[in-house]
Amino acid sequence: MVAVRVLLYIVDEDKVHAGTTDCNACPAKVPVLLYDTSKDQVAKGLALMDKLLDKDAKKGALQSADAKEARERVTVVDSLTALRDVGMTVEAVSENLRLKQAIFSELAATLPPSAILATNTSSISVTKIAASTLQPGQSAASEEGKATASRVVGLHFFNPVPVMKLVELIPGLQTSSETLQTARSFALACGKEVTMSKDVPGFVSNALLMPFINEAIMCLEKGIATRDDIDKTLKLGMNHPMGPLQLADFIGLDTCLAIQQTLYQGTADSKYRPSVLLERMVDAQWLGKKNGKGFYDYPSA
Ligand code: 3HC
Repeated sequence: MVAVRVLLYIVDEDKVHAGTTDCNACPAKVPVLLYDTSKDQVAKGLALMDKLLDKDAKKGALQSADAKEARERVTVVDSLTALRDVGMTVEAVSENLRLKQAIFSELAATLPPSAILATNTSSISVTKIAASTLQPGQSAASEEGKATASRVVGLHFFNPVPVMKLVELIPGLQTSSETLQTARSFALACGKEVTMSKDVPGFVSNALLMPFINEAIMCLEKGIATRDDIDKTLKLGMNHPMGPLQLADFIGLDTCLAIQQTLYQGTADSKYRPSVLLERMVDAQWLGKKNGKGFYDYPSA
């Protein structure tokens, strides 16, 4: 396995269909296996779950017993082979096609043929990811090949996932209607609303958001306004919860750049060309909130 963070949420498909909505913090109530190549990321993820469940229990939004049960539904596993009996996976690694292809190839070979393989990609072609599930010698035109790739789907959650209400659903060219329906049911069982996008670079969400963020960075680069005035304009003038520069830090500047590169390469449209300032900031390893330095400083990161 490549030494890059790999995060997979695994759920049982039968429970997806039986998802109930009587618990605010954990509406789907599905057992989850969590796999990540980084132990640090696992520890961080579990600590965040504990903190959020604890906060909801203290606020009375959740019974303590429900919070405890929700936490107990998550089991950490230390290898992909531990996923061999699951009904569905959601991959959430960084925006790197090669890495995703390697993971999907392994998942397709490991999981039962009925399992759904979802990707949380923000911009990369679901069709390309699906094609990587074909095993050596398997033809995309054969019945087996079609069945293999038909279970891949884009299931794009938004950050912070417990707060944001949307999941964007993206079928690849090969995705079957059954896969699409199960993925939609899962998102609804998680308490989310669903929109659909064709498999184009960035889908609807990032084809709109990334040029906006990039334009804000170019405003800063050209000295049109200060960082604070750019963000304040959008916060107070347009009621955005965060200004675009703060949002870029929040998403991660490396992630913004990777998405913008996918948009630019996938469309050859100069309107998607990433700003030089964004490229330089990523060169400097200023990645935003996650490592303490972006357009703003985050001393506690
Ligand atoms: N995880 C879980 N919950 C969080 C959280 C996090 N990281 N950050 C904040 N919250 C919760 C808080 O606990 C609080 O919950 P409560 O009301 O139950 O107490 C609630 O969100 C509000 O938090 P705060 O009062 O601390 O702060 P704000 O009111 O400023 O809200 C915010 C924080 C929800 C992050 C808000 O600033 C916001 O909506 N920002 C924009 C987020 C956004 O645009 N996300 C999309 C990013 S793009 C993306 O994900 C796509 C990808 O492909 C790039």
